[in-house]
Amino acid sequence: MEALTVHHPFDGSEVATVAVPGPEQIERAVAAAAAVAAEFRRTPAHVRADALEHVSRGLAEQAEELAELITAENGKPLRWAEVEVKRAVSTFRVAAEEARRFGGEIQRLDTDPSADGRVALVRRFPRGPVLGIAPFNFPLNLVAHKVAPSLAVGAPIIIKPAPRTPLSSLVLGELLAETDLPDGAFSVLPIGNEATAGLVRDERLPVVSFTGSGPVGWSLMDAAPRKHFVLELGGNAAAVVCADWDDLDFAAQRIATFGNYQAGQSCIAVQRVLVDRAIADEFIGKLVDAVRGLRNGDPHDPDVEVGPVVDEAAAARIQSWIEEATSRGAKLLAGGHREGTLVEPTLLLDAPEDSKVWAEEVFGPVLAVSIVDGNDDAFDRVNSSAYGLQAGVFTRDLPTATRAGAELEVGGVIIGDVPSFRADQMPYGGIKGSGFGREGVRSAMIDLTEERITVLTNVSL
Ligand code: SIN
Repeated sequence: MEALTVHHPFDGSEVATVAVPGPEQIERAVAAAAAVAAEFRRTPAHVRADALEHVSRGLAEQAEELAELITAENGKPLRWAEVEVKRAVSTFRVAAEEARRFGGEIQRLDTDPSADGRVALVRRFPRGPVLGIAPFNFPLNLVAHKVAPSLAVGAPIIIKPAPRTPLSSLVLGELLAETDLPDGAFSVLPIGNEATAGLVRDERLPVVSFTGSGPVGWSLMDAAPRKHFVLELGGNAAAVVCADWDDLDFAAQRIATFGNYQAGQSCIAVQRVLVDRAIADEFIGKLVDAVRGLRNGDPHDPDVEVGPVVDEAAAARIQSWIEEATSRGAKLLAGGHREGTLVEPTLLLDAPEDSKVWAEEVFGPVLAVSIVDGNDDAFDRVNSSAYGLQAGVFTRDLPTATRAGAELEVGGVIIGDVPSFRADQMPYGGIKGSGFGREGVRSAMIDLTEERITVLTNVSL
């Protein structure tokens, strides 16, 4: 049987060897998902909720070991791995709660005489078995965001973890295997990208939920245009610091931390910073200090805040993007160097609008700051991106806050904080190049199901 070796991103050491399912096992998983779909859809809500609660509890019981595992396979510092485990515990707990209350509604139809005595029973049914393709940056919780809502609505799911980080998914699979869910309701297939292409085309899996890079996501969709897709793609999230924001220490600390958490490998890590000219000098001074104060190094060291990026190719690309910006006039205010997979937390000022660190998704510990003249200018600059996932706006002014929520072309606006805030029950997803469809447990449950109506006649109203 083919095997996959997982390497630690920090020092390249071997973490584990995983058996890679071959064509026969992949076929068994797909056939089982298709065969169980009708039965699974009909399982009582309490059975699904109990299973999800079991996983939530199991994750909490193994929290320490799981955090170590995430750090080993992904390289994020232990403190961030611990946060991820806690979030996955909540994701499954919320899914259990939602599974119990996810129902339908009664719609009155007697709004015109032709439908006297009639009502519609509007219920949601799964679109069918789901193929979930997960990324490396949150190897547990972004898998949870695909598995938990699918199981909550009674849709079988085949999860394909990122090849670099399959271990957390396999632990999740073990916990799911302890539940009363029927065979075929879930499978974890740590397979390569070629085998995945076959699954994307397979008509027995009518839903594809993908989190990862834009080019891969769009090409998968092009390969199966009739399927229902959820695409959670990247972003180059902006934080706006408005002139009315008085706590510049807080803004600088939050932006430095969340531009560099997980070495910037989050789709909502701060990348672009737009600061009003009225406060720019003072704010940028504080941001430089905050970025320089971040320790990077071995992710197992409890004092380390910024660990390695996923591999050396990613580190080299990030470094070349920093060099591209500086060669075109950006000023390097902090960082800029790398050693192996460790990229120093980096701060650039005045990167050109079309430089990669401004226009593309860096997915590394790099912040690019630009000075703006007022909120109109700031909002225009946020919107001039090809992406639109989340934005953060530091303001205490209510009209500015509500205007940001309405006018910024993103899926979510965070007022008074960085764009990197995410609570696992809230709708999460992007517009423009950041994809479409929403995760966040209830939103994903809606996305994975479709409405069907049953019209009742001769109803006493
Ligand atoms: C992502 O990188 O898209 C996920 C961010 C998060 O869940 O915090």
